[in-house]
Amino acid sequence: MKKTLVVGTGYVGLVTGTCFSEMGIPVICIDVDNEKIENLKKGILPIYEPGLDVLVEKNTKAGRLDFSTSLEDNLEEAEVIFSAVGTPPDEDGSADLQYVIDVARTIGRSMKDYKLVVTKSTVPVGTAGLVRKTIQAELDKRGLSIPFDVASNPEFLKEGDAVNDFMHPDRVVVGIESSKAEEIMTRLYRPFLLNNFRVIFMDITSAEMTKYAANAMLATRISFMNDIANLCEKVGANINMVRKGIGSDTRIGNKFLYAGCGYGGSCFPKDVKALLKIGEQNDCSMRVIKAVEEVNDDQKFILFHRLKSFYHGDLQGKTIAVWGLAFKPETDDMREAPSLVIINELLNAGCKVKAYDPVAMQEAKRKLGDKITYSKDIYDAVIDADALLVITEWKEFRVPIWNILKQSMKKAVLFDGRNIYDLRELKKEGIEYFGIGI
Ligand SMILES: NC(=O)c1ccc[n+]([C@@H]2O[C@H](COP(=O)([O-])OP(=O)(O)OC[C@H]3O[C@@H](n4cnc5c(N)ncnc54)[C@H](O)[C@@H]3O)[C@@H](O)[C@H]2O)c1
Repeated sequence: MKKTLVVGTGYVGLVTGTCFSEMGIPVICIDVDNEKIENLKKGILPIYEPGLDVLVEKNTKAGRLDFSTSLEDNLEEAEVIFSAVGTPPDEDGSADLQYVIDVARTIGRSMKDYKLVVTKSTVPVGTAGLVRKTIQAELDKRGLSIPFDVASNPEFLKEGDAVNDFMHPDRVVVGIESSKAEEIMTRLYRPFLLNNFRVIFMDITSAEMTKYAANAMLATRISFMNDIANLCEKVGANINMVRKGIGSDTRIGNKFLYAGCGYGGSCFPKDVKALLKIGEQNDCSMRVIKAVEEVNDDQKFILFHRLKSFYHGDLQGKTIAVWGLAFKPETDDMREAPSLVIINELLNAGCKVKAYDPVAMQEAKRKLGDKITYSKDIYDAVIDADALLVITEWKEFRVPIWNILKQSMKKAVLFDGRNIYDLRELKKEGIEYFGIGI
């Protein structure tokens, strides 16, 4: 069987490659980061993702999953190449496509027979065309006429539950322009969807747009709920009740309706920005999405403002405990994490920050260095604290021993950025409590 190459061995590429190999498909994951590849060959993963380490080990041992730094060297053995490289925001907010183009160029330079080049990264509408042109230009330089197809297969996995999402997708979106590409993609995805084949084939432009529309819709739900939560506080309503009230309506559904201190991560902020840029380039003002971004930017400051007004505007010298650094639970990813914005504000205001996160401490040290103190657990973080801010809703934060907090903290006050605690319970425990929209 020909091999499947996955280029870019990050959150998406490593999960994609590993899950295909789990289905018996021989895969080589490729990355330009030598250290990442060397570590993966030794079984050391570059990311924390539940269940992934076990699958990587199993499939590597079975000889179905391999790692390499060279796309050229492995191209001949492959028919399909998934490109899952990063597409970070450029200075103007648009997606930076340099890595996507690099991959296409390398393929065009080295291919000797038919290839299907599938873009898995989140890319603006028209990128598949750019990939096609780039490959063709390289073939023209070589004076060769080799057939190839491009396809778009945006990824919808959630960090923290990525393996499960990939193994049991709600649906798989595939943009194609040839029956050969459709046949290959059907063969690759059939094992995941044996009982109910939920691959939605469409034109490439629609597939590219689907990914941005999906993330923008989810971000919209979050910002909408944050707006409603802020109003709830003013009028004396409780956002948790409102969420239950509307989420049980089947037309609305109960997912992504949680108010909090803002969304972060490597996808929503960047994809919302990129969609705004695509709108601008096409003379289409994306008014809803603009507001979604604005609400979220403000929401990241909300805990800080509350804390500041609690201490009458003076936070100089205060010790603040922070629980949760990752942008969401079950990941060590801190890209665009609200924690970074909040910690930055706290430091600027003259606070001392003591933080704890179950898995993101290493990542936090890379980002924040020695500007904050890293605690060994939740209780260590609150010793002598003037307040506790909960920023990520990790399971291990849900049922703390309140007495320890009361005894260790200088002032037992909790600002809950994810609404995981019960106001009445905390009142009974003698802890002052502030949630979002309650
Ligand atoms: N992280 C998510 O939850 C998620 C979900 C859906 C879609 N996406 C999209 O998938 C894409 C990848 O995201 P990610 O979070 O996995 O990124 P990542 O930064 O974790 O990984 C990207 C990898 O690509 C490698 N790379 C860059 N240029 C390369 C090249 N020329 N050849 C080989 N490797 C190269 C980098 O070294 C890096 O390891 C992005 O477009 C993102 O928007 C991400």
